[in-house]
Amino acid sequence: MPPPLGPSAHRPTRFRRTVLAVTVCAAALLGAALLPSTARAADPPLRELAAAKGVYLGNAVAGGALGGNAAYAALAGTQFGSLTPENAMKWGSVEPTRGSYNWAEADQIVAFAQAHGQQVRGHTLVWHSQNPGWLANGGFGAAELRGLLQQHITTEVGRYQGRVRAWDVLNELFNEDGSYRSSLWTDALGTGFVADALTWAHQADPAAELYLNDYNVEGLGAKSDALYALVRSLKAQGVPIHGVGFQAHFVLGQVPATLQANLQRFADLGVDVAVTELDVRMQTPATEAKLSQQAADYGTVVKSCLAVGRCRGVTAWDISDADSWVPSVFPGYGAATLYDAGYQPKPAHHAVAVALGAGTPASTPSPSASSSPAPGCTAAYTVPNQWNTGFTGGVTVSCPPGSSLSGWRVSWDFTAGQQLTQSWNATCTQTGTRVTCANAAWNGGVTAGGSVAFGFNGTWSGSNPVPAVALN
Ligand code: XIL
Repeated sequence: MPPPLGPSAHRPTRFRRTVLAVTVCAAALLGAALLPSTARAADPPLRELAAAKGVYLGNAVAGGALGGNAAYAALAGTQFGSLTPENAMKWGSVEPTRGSYNWAEADQIVAFAQAHGQQVRGHTLVWHSQNPGWLANGGFGAAELRGLLQQHITTEVGRYQGRVRAWDVLNELFNEDGSYRSSLWTDALGTGFVADALTWAHQADPAAELYLNDYNVEGLGAKSDALYALVRSLKAQGVPIHGVGFQAHFVLGQVPATLQANLQRFADLGVDVAVTELDVRMQTPATEAKLSQQAADYGTVVKSCLAVGRCRGVTAWDISDADSWVPSVFPGYGAATLYDAGYQPKPAHHAVAVALGAGTPASTPSPSASSSPAPGCTAAYTVPNQWNTGFTGGVTVSCPPGSSLSGWRVSWDFTAGQQLTQSWNATCTQTGTRVTCANAAWNGGVTAGGSVAFGFNGTWSGSNPVPAVALN
């Protein structure tokens, strides 16, 4: 059984690194010796596999390691399509002294993500933990506290408007029995701050996707029921709530059997769902059997997300076993991530790749199918989002009544030096200026009167004109 310690029991990071050193060296040696050859074979980048399935695979990162650890930064940039600042956006990090902000690490991570064509999940605006001392111990009355909260949310969300795709607005609201957790916020403000926080975040960035995030809510149970009731009630009141994050700090072999059903019931409320902090901890030392079980567990989680239409993606929590928060918080446990302490992929990495379709033949529309006459079918190109160095593009392929497609290919030229970095719901390649996108395995059919869409990220500078696109 896991130790009776919640995932949010924390110790300062500086303690963690020293405690960790001995454990992870042993784990690194063991991991390297135990990895089966399949895990060593180079899988395609996880971010590309995920994008081809219409989801993202993300990870949690720290600015220091991104800037100072080449192996870490290389994996963060190439394998993951979404980044979550592990600590850099928490209140204690951004406003350690009242009125004095420190955005350096958060800015660094957002810039890294933009340079690598990645999304950012903002984490987290309202939490009982990792608040600065001046706030936690300030003895503020309700009115002043509410004002401070509004100002914090407005300032932080506003700063990253258009650059953070989704925010964990509220983190870990509930106790295990489904009651609200006693905290700085609930003790002074009751529960109305939940709707207020979402509303303020929405005002600061109307395009950002706003999430509630929690742990031990992944399977059906009292805590998940409480979260479900809250989301339903917020939706009924018209409060801006767009998604629910399931942290998924799991113990080896204990992925809840009801994970997929639980994700689905939330999705059925009309919100997106995402796995936001996935790790699978084991009692150290790792053994081959444990690493194999861990691979199965990671695979189960990714497959559960893929099986739920509104599951947007899976974020792993920490790049490697050398970076993981687990050993400092769960004594005796570790080896919880996708890479060993030497930054080599573990069996779990390969399991995630396989769950995302690695090894499955790529879809290639047959020329005869794609060139069959389909009068009136069109492809329309849009740029829904653009920032200083990057942009997100989208193409919708539509057919009028009486025409259909059983495979499609859309091509265009990027004439202003734009460079494709990532695509989803299509397989896209760029050679020189020429970009060609072919349907994925599941969306080659466009019915009469119907449409399918795919998207991509790219970089640009100077100008980003909309190209003329050709279909089939
Ligand atoms: C953890 C970080 O990984 C640690 O570095 C830090 O010392 C404590 O917080 N749930 C959350 C995350 O929402 O913010 C926590 O992150 C892990 C549990």
